[in-house]
Amino acid sequence: MMADNRRMVIGVPKEIKEQENRVALLPSAAYQLIKRGHVVVVEQNAGVGAGYPDDEYRAAGAKLATGHAEVFEQADLIVKVKEPLSSEYPLLRQGQLLFTYLHLAANRTLTEALMQSGATCIAYESVEMNRRLPLLEPMSEIAGRMSVIMGGYFLAKHNQGKGVLLGGVPGVLPGKVVVIGGGTSGVNAARMAMGLGADVTILEVDLERMRFLDITMHTAHTLYSSEASLLELLPSVDLMIGAVLVPGARAPKLINREMLRMMKPGTVFVDIAIDQGGCAETSRPTTHQAPTFFEEGVMHYCVANMPGAYARTATQALTNVTYRFIETLADYGLQEALQKQPALAKGINIIDGKLTCAPVGEAHGIEVSPLPF
Ligand SMILES: NC(=O)c1ccc[n+]([C@@H]2O[C@H](COP(=O)([O-])OP(=O)(O)OC[C@H]3O[C@@H](n4cnc5c(N)ncnc54)[C@H](O)[C@@H]3O)[C@@H](O)[C@H]2O)c1
Repeated sequence: MMADNRRMVIGVPKEIKEQENRVALLPSAAYQLIKRGHVVVVEQNAGVGAGYPDDEYRAAGAKLATGHAEVFEQADLIVKVKEPLSSEYPLLRQGQLLFTYLHLAANRTLTEALMQSGATCIAYESVEMNRRLPLLEPMSEIAGRMSVIMGGYFLAKHNQGKGVLLGGVPGVLPGKVVVIGGGTSGVNAARMAMGLGADVTILEVDLERMRFLDITMHTAHTLYSSEASLLELLPSVDLMIGAVLVPGARAPKLINREMLRMMKPGTVFVDIAIDQGGCAETSRPTTHQAPTFFEEGVMHYCVANMPGAYARTATQALTNVTYRFIETLADYGLQEALQKQPALAKGINIIDGKLTCAPVGEAHGIEVSPLPF
C-alpha cells in the first residue's frame, strides 16, 4: 500500500509522433492505479491505435481529456511512449515527473528543452536492474521475432526475394538463416526461424553467451563471430539478421559492400541494429511505408522502429514492464520510490534543470550533476 494518503494525478497523452500507435498505460493498469486512490487522465483516442478505445478507459474509472495540453496541465506524472516533440516542450513544468523513452544522447535540442522545463525526466531505456535494461528488452524481443516474419515474407519471388521458403518441404532443404548477435533480439530471431524449420546459425563473440545458446537453442548452430566466419557463410545464406549491440556505442560495421557481392541476388538482410547505425556499411534507416532497398542485389530491411508495426503487442509488452515502476512512483513519489525501486535511479536523466546521466553529458559536452538525494 501507499506510504501515506498521497494521491497522484497520472496523465496519459496521445502519442503525436508520426506512425506511433502505442499507448503508455492499458485500461487495466489505469483501473489498478485508480483502485489505489490515484487519478488517471487519458487523452481522447490515446489508446485507439493499439486497440484500446476510450470506453475501456472510462469503464476503468479514468477521466477522458479532450485536449493534449489539458493532460499535461493536470498531471503530476506524465507517462508516455516516445520522447516529447517540440510542441510538447512548453507543456512540461517544474517538478512534474515524465516517464518515457527519451534517448537523449541522440538529441541535444530535446536534452536542453527538458533541462529548461524543470521537469524530472526518467528514461525507460536507462532504468537498469542487475546490469540489464528491463524496459528495452521487450522491444528487442518483438524486433527479433518480427525480423523472421519480415525476412520470410520478402524472400518471396514476387517481393523480389530469392524465392526460398525458409522451412523447406519434405525432400527440399530448408532456408539458411544467419543471426549476427545472440542477445535478446538475436535469440528471439533464432527461435522464430527454428520454429519455421529453417537452418539457423548464430554468430556471437561472448563465449558465455554461446554456451547458453548451445544449451537452449537445440537445433541452432553457434559460431564465433569473425570476418572469416561471415565470408564462409555469405554465399549460401538466404536470410541474414543483424542483431549486434556494443552497449553505448554505434553498431560495429561487420559487413562491407564487397561481402554483399558474395551473397546471391535476392538474399534478404534484416538489420535490426539500424537504430544504432546498423551493422553493414550499406545500411540506412527505412520506414514501414518503404521498408526495403537493394544494394549489390541484397535486399535490405532497415526499419528503425520495428515494434511500431505491432502496436497492440508492443503496448502490452511495454506496459507489462513499466507498470510496477509507474505504480511505485505514484504511490511513493520520486524520492521514496527510489528506495523501493533502486533501478529507477539510473533512469533519471534530468532533475530540476540539471543533467544527471553521464553518457548523455558525454554525448553533448554538458556538465553532469549527481542526484540530489
Ligand atoms: N530496429 C528496431 O526497431 C529495434 C528494436 C529493438 C532493438 N533494436 C536494436 O537491436 C540491437 C540489438 O539489441 P539487443 O537487445 O538484442 O542487444 P543485446 O545486448 O541483448 O545483444 C547484442 C549481442 O550482440 C553481441 N555482439 C556484440 N558484438 C558482436 C559481433 N561483432 N558479432 C556478433 N555478436 C556481437 C553481444 O555479445 C550481445 O550478445 C540494438 O541496437 C537495439 O537497439 C532495434
